[in-house]
Amino acid sequence: MSDSKKLKLDYNNMMQEFVGSHGLSAAELEAIKPKFAPAAKAMKEKRKEGGMDWRDLPLNQAEVVKDILAYAAKMKDEVEYFVLLGIGGSALGPMAVHQALLHPFYNDLPRAERGPKLYIVDNVDPERLNYLFQVVDIKKALFNVVSKSGSTSETMSQFMIVKEMLENAVGKEKAKERIVATTDSKAGNLIKIATEEGYKTFIIPSGVGGRFSQLSPVGLLPAAICGIDIAELLEGAAYMDGLCNEDEVFNNPAYAYAALNYAALLKGANICVMMPYADRLKYISDWYVQLWAESLGKRVDNEGKVVNIGPTPIKALGATDQHAQVQLFVEGPFDKLVVFIGVDEFHEDIEIPKIFGDMPNIGFLGGHSHGSLLKAEQMATEFALMKNGKMNMTITLPKVTAFTLGQLLYFFEVATGFMGELMNINAFDQPGVEEGKNATYALMGRPGYEDKKKELDSRPAKKEEYVI
Ligand code: PA5
Repeated sequence: MSDSKKLKLDYNNMMQEFVGSHGLSAAELEAIKPKFAPAAKAMKEKRKEGGMDWRDLPLNQAEVVKDILAYAAKMKDEVEYFVLLGIGGSALGPMAVHQALLHPFYNDLPRAERGPKLYIVDNVDPERLNYLFQVVDIKKALFNVVSKSGSTSETMSQFMIVKEMLENAVGKEKAKERIVATTDSKAGNLIKIATEEGYKTFIIPSGVGGRFSQLSPVGLLPAAICGIDIAELLEGAAYMDGLCNEDEVFNNPAYAYAALNYAALLKGANICVMMPYADRLKYISDWYVQLWAESLGKRVDNEGKVVNIGPTPIKALGATDQHAQVQLFVEGPFDKLVVFIGVDEFHEDIEIPKIFGDMPNIGFLGGHSHGSLLKAEQMATEFALMKNGKMNMTITLPKVTAFTLGQLLYFFEVATGFMGELMNINAFDQPGVEEGKNATYALMGRPGYEDKKKELDSRPAKKEEYVI
């Protein structure tokens, strides 16, 4: 593989030699070493036992990709709008990939230069759908309802609203062609409805949880519809899979990243800031925040002991957040680890004209480009953090392409799994989310949730003196 396609991970600034006593020492890395081999073994075993089907998505979807490409080719000219209905892992991956790989003003491009306009509806804010249909002509739209469980209230309620509106607008039969479901092959109601109605359906394999599903049809279908090269995305992920099969932690980029995060966590840096220096990668932070938070924030460990553990991920964007959060990162407490994502080559660059030569305080910018300014700002922030004893590391993409993005997504997914092993928690469940989902069902009157409703009704009454 040529270097022009490879990611780099630079963790110099994690180490005491660079950041002083708040950095990691060789002894601290040595101390966590006994955990490495069992964690690597667990990763291998889980993969073999089918507990991590998402690991095989880059390798086993040839037929799925064919089906998606054929469907996308058929639909992309037939409709003007592609609306994704989904939440959490069913929405954040598609958002991140589209932002990274499409023109930043994709929807505003002339029709000949793009696929259908894309909208991702990932909330049930009552204004959202109403306003959406002021700009989307429902008669010309394709709706992709995405839910692994097939029962999430937000997504299913969006779907119910859309289904009725669509049937009223285009008739029952046509509506069936304008809804495509992405869901589990058995669980939940969505698969039942999709089968009964005859919707085109793509299946999320059973061992692929929501936040690990971007490389399944969850992400691949919306990407293909908008013209993203999904085969290349998967090839990048497959290449990273090869690198991540190595058991030796510091020869495996994802394991090394997780081990450094784990050592930082033990040292009290329990906040992990994800800070890309490229607008294209802005929503990678949102996706990462969910992946890291939902996977690693847990009440109990693998033995059932209450641990209430988890690193808190925070999203930031360079250079924008240099004027917002960076003051805190540089001078605040030693509770953070900042991860930069930089790019060597931007798709476009723009020269700053050589004007205002008589005003040296701004004139010096002339002749440079925005790309070089942004890179200088990234380096400057790394330096400021290092000088102030704050741990940071940098992942560099040669260029944001489907291939490098596939690598990046897969890298973070494997890192999350390995981090879970090091922390001795289950990275693949989300009981805290389920608790909230169940309470919502009870409040909204779902049959079978009467006991949960009673539990909610018996919660302590709120005191008036605490309300202003
Ligand atoms: O990662 C997860 O499992 C969650 O964030 C889910 O993606 C989210 O809750 C939506 O669930 P579903 O896809 O079942 O509708």
